[in-house]
Amino acid sequence: MSSRISARISAISESATLAVDAKAKAMKAAGRPVIGFGAGEPDFPTPGYIVEAAVEAARDPRFHKYTPAGGLPELRQAIADKTLRDSGYQVDASRVLVTNGGKQAVYQAFATLLDPGDEVLVVAPYWTTYPEAIKLAGGVQVDVVTDETTGYLASVEQLEAARTERTKVLLFVSPSNPTGAVYPREQVEAIGRWAAEHGLWVVTDEIYEHLVYGGAEFTSIATAVPELGDRVVIVNGVAKTYAMTGWRVGWLIGPSDVVKAATNLQSHATSNVSNVAQVAALAAVKGDLSAVERMREAFDRRRKTMVRMLNEIPGVLCPEPQGAFYVYPSVKALLGKELRGRRPQTSAELAELILEEAEVAVVPGEAFGTPGYFRLSYALGDDDLVEGVSRLQKLLSEAV
Ligand SMILES: Cc1ncc(COP(=O)(O)O)c(C=O)c1O
Repeated sequence: MSSRISARISAISESATLAVDAKAKAMKAAGRPVIGFGAGEPDFPTPGYIVEAAVEAARDPRFHKYTPAGGLPELRQAIADKTLRDSGYQVDASRVLVTNGGKQAVYQAFATLLDPGDEVLVVAPYWTTYPEAIKLAGGVQVDVVTDETTGYLASVEQLEAARTERTKVLLFVSPSNPTGAVYPREQVEAIGRWAAEHGLWVVTDEIYEHLVYGGAEFTSIATAVPELGDRVVIVNGVAKTYAMTGWRVGWLIGPSDVVKAATNLQSHATSNVSNVAQVAALAAVKGDLSAVERMREAFDRRRKTMVRMLNEIPGVLCPEPQGAFYVYPSVKALLGKELRGRRPQTSAELAELILEEAEVAVVPGEAFGTPGYFRLSYALGDDDLVEGVSRLQKLLSEAV
């Protein structure tokens, strides 16, 4: 008898980050004062001028219709212009595909590039969605594991050690979710040249491009390494830059054949992105970057507070992230210790204990391919952040 759920879909795991968030929200709804460090979204509202553009569009029957599957022509052009402005990467609007968030761009990029057995190099810790998108496309993920000693940056030597004759794609993510690592320009160039030399494709996720701190700078591998030629696919979106996670607008930029094939896929899967949301995204990418600059300043302040407070906890080692809005401390030294009558052996068990005992939600490293760590988002209000980390300090200092 055939099984009710296909093997392909049964193999997909629940998003661990969304699961933690859901559990924390359920506890909150039940009246418990949970502080959630799980969510991967800015706590700011979408800027007013973007919302206004959407309200106007919603009133205009022209925007009640389907758009071309690839997106509104003016939005594709604005994305091409924005990419030149922010990444120095020149691209024709015909090579932009507007997607339902960066997530759909990730999914479609792998679905379009991979045949069964094709290998993808993925630097761990990695964002939870990548493995599922690769797996669904029949690809084989090959992990390149990094840790806090290199600031979670992979070297060319590590990548080369993982390369085989089946390697087709390098997934490159900087700034990184979950670690906040940002590759310096020289390392971006070295990695890109190495990929070009071996004829690899590079899928580069640039969704956190505008969230970098201190002296760190975002470098687009597509621009820094012209030798990659037409083997680069850029994934990006408005979610993180303009606090627009709920609007679901992202994009994929690639060579014409990839964009055409991915558009065919999308045309049957989801057609176009909501017309009204596309108009909102148009206002966002055509506008300036002052809103993200204000958010960036707030995130930078919270980042410093969080790193300092976490490092005050014995057994927690928190490197200073340079981008995105996450910290990724090691909690290995706490595992196996006694805490409130229990002895958590894994970061997942410790995260569960913390949620129950301190009413603080963190995402365990198991979700990102590296047990022994936590990911904490600092995209939440300053007071909640201090209260949440204070609770962690209090609880975790009891470990013996
Ligand atoms: C690294 C990375 N890429 C892409 C996305 C996709 O974002 P969205 O689908 O909301 O545009 C996210 C969201 O968490 C992310 O962290």
